[in-house]
Parts: sequence; C-alpha cells; structure tokens
Amino acid sequence: MITGVLERYKDYLPVTDKTPIFTLGEGDTPLVKSASVAREVGCDELYFKLESCNPTGSFKDRGMVVAVAKALEEGGDTIVCASTGNTSASAAAYGARCGLSTIIFVPKDYVARGKLAQAITYGARIMLIDGGFDDALRLVREIADKHPVVLVNSLNPYRLQGQKTAAFEIVQDLGGAPAHLFIPVGNAGNITAYWMGFQEAHRMEWTGAMPRMMGFEASGAAAIVKGRPIESPDTIASAIRVGNPASWKKAVRARDESGGVIDAVTDDEIMEAYTMMARQEGIFCEPASAASVAGLLKLARGGMRLNDGKVVCVITGSGLKDPDTAVTVEPAFMEEYPADIDAIEDAMGLA
Ligand code: F0G
Repeated sequence: MITGVLERYKDYLPVTDKTPIFTLGEGDTPLVKSASVAREVGCDELYFKLESCNPTGSFKDRGMVVAVAKALEEGGDTIVCASTGNTSASAAAYGARCGLSTIIFVPKDYVARGKLAQAITYGARIMLIDGGFDDALRLVREIADKHPVVLVNSLNPYRLQGQKTAAFEIVQDLGGAPAHLFIPVGNAGNITAYWMGFQEAHRMEWTGAMPRMMGFEASGAAAIVKGRPIESPDTIASAIRVGNPASWKKAVRARDESGGVIDAVTDDEIMEAYTMMARQEGIFCEPASAASVAGLLKLARGGMRLNDGKVVCVITGSGLKDPDTAVTVEPAFMEEYPADIDAIEDAMGLA
C-alpha cells in the first residue's frame, strides 16, 4: 500500500486534524544507482532520484497534494496556477481527484505536448497565454490577489513543504545526506524546498552532514547566473524556460548557505545528458531533468573531484512528457519494411 506524502510525513508538514488526507501515490520514489554516468564523472556513488515516478510524472505532485489538501481545508473550490506544464498537469490531476475547478495559465506554444495532454484529459480549463511563463505567473498572481481562487504555484508555501519530503527520502535511503545534490533550476522552488528539507533533517539529527546544493539553469534562461531577469528566455528544456524565477533569493540563499553553485548548461549539453541517460542508464527523463546531469558532466570535465562522497542527481520529470523532443534524437534506429519475412531477414543480415 502506498501511504503518500500527507500520511507518511504528516508530523513534518502543516497538517492539522482538519486537513483531508488522500493520495494519488506520490512520493517514495526510487533512488537508483548509476551504472555508466558514475564512471564518466569519476564518482563511486552516484544516484538518480527518480521523481519522474510520481503519479503525473514529475516532482510537482509532492507539493501539489499538500497545497490541494490545504485549499480544501480552507474551503477553496478553485485552484489556479501558471506553469511551463508540469505544475499544471499536477494541479489538474489533484484538482480532478478532489472535485475542484482547476484553471491553468500556460505559455502558448511552449508547453510540451504530453503535459498539455495531461491537463486536457484531467479536465482543467486551459488559458493559453500569448507570452512566456513569467507573463502567465504575473497574470495568475493578480487574479489570485483579486478573486477567491487558490494559487497553487510554489509561491504557495504548502507546495515547498510537500516538495521538501524528497530530501527526507534521500537522507533516509542513504542513511544521511549526500555530499552533493545536483538539481535543475527554473522558477527556483525545488532547490529551495530541498535545502529546507535537508536543513530540517539535519535539525532532527537524521543526518550529520548537509549537501552542497548544485543548481543548473538553462543558459538561455539563466537569470540567477547572470544576475538579471532574462527578457526572452529560450531553451529546449521548456520546463525551465523561466526568465525571472519567483524563488530567486531563496535559491541564492540555498546555494550560499550550502557552499554550492548555481551554474548554467547549454541546450547541447542538456541534449547530450538527455541522450546519455536514456542510452547508457536506461532512464528516460525530460530535457529539463537532464540539466542536473549535464551540470554534473560539466563540472566533472572541468576538473571537480567527485569520488569522496555520495552524489545525487534529481530527475525531476519523465521523458514521456515531451515526445516531440524525444523523436528528434539522432541516430534513430528506425527503418520501414514491408510485412515480409524475407525482407526482414535480409535487412537483419540473417538471410
Ligand atoms: N524540472 C522540471 C521537469 C520542471 O517542470 C521544473 C519546473 C523544474 C525542473 C524546475 O523546478 O521551477 O522549482 O526550479 N517546472 C515549473 C512548472 C516551472 O510550471 O511546471 P523549479
């Protein structure tokens, strides 16, 4: 039986007697040991935290279950969010489960097809905004300020509360925190939530050590790295196509307090890591998730030593989310044949 984030972590979450406890099976995701990338980067103990195994295929479900439970507790009937796709898929799923109206604001033309398919099928109302994620977030914040709807973006503190539970699981699975945690950065909520989780785990003495937080933005959307908002962010990793991250300051604090790094990776580096994860590790992640692995490869190639402690890369979302990017991967071992045994044997060199 899956217990879910609310039940499993209720003592560490803002859960009261009145909070409804329910689950779609979020949390308790696998921590898989690397076979190949570990060798490539010279790290004896590299693990991937497969947040893609959550019910809607991304880490967002951990925070969404808490945000939706609190919305219900507080009598809300409508949830709203801006999203590059995963938050909206998660909101749509948990909204459907709980009988809430869900309205999502997404940048027109920049949401991966699988994520849009999820929101459509879960029955959310979809507002396609003629602009980027930052425009969508600005609009939805204004709507939530003026009208009786519940904002379930990571500005809603319950979201980060739920997301911090991934750090708890890593500490529990490894028997302590890793030396380094590599994570993609978009709106900067998740790096903030992980750092909060590791700090709490440390205070509760579940771990003596704390990780260095290693965050990676896409180089075309690297506001934190460049120290200024990006007017027209651009990257193949549409999930992290964010020009003005809402949790910017908190991410910088996580970086500085942990002695970590926030750096950028190019689309080519992201696609190299994306393909390597699939072809060498058997892990199909979405491009934004590959940013954490791309960052690891970049730093290792730059001479960083990684063999004196455990390293975890967070795989934030599933490759199935973005089939259009997947089918562009080269080489593709795909050819067309007539339904004829001779032709097939001939092609396979078995004739
Ligand atoms: N990876 C994936 C797959 C994401 O969907 C996101 C963010 C991130 C990483 C970055 O996390 O924003 O907390 O720094 N997706 C948001 C969304 C923006 O709307 O789904 P972050």
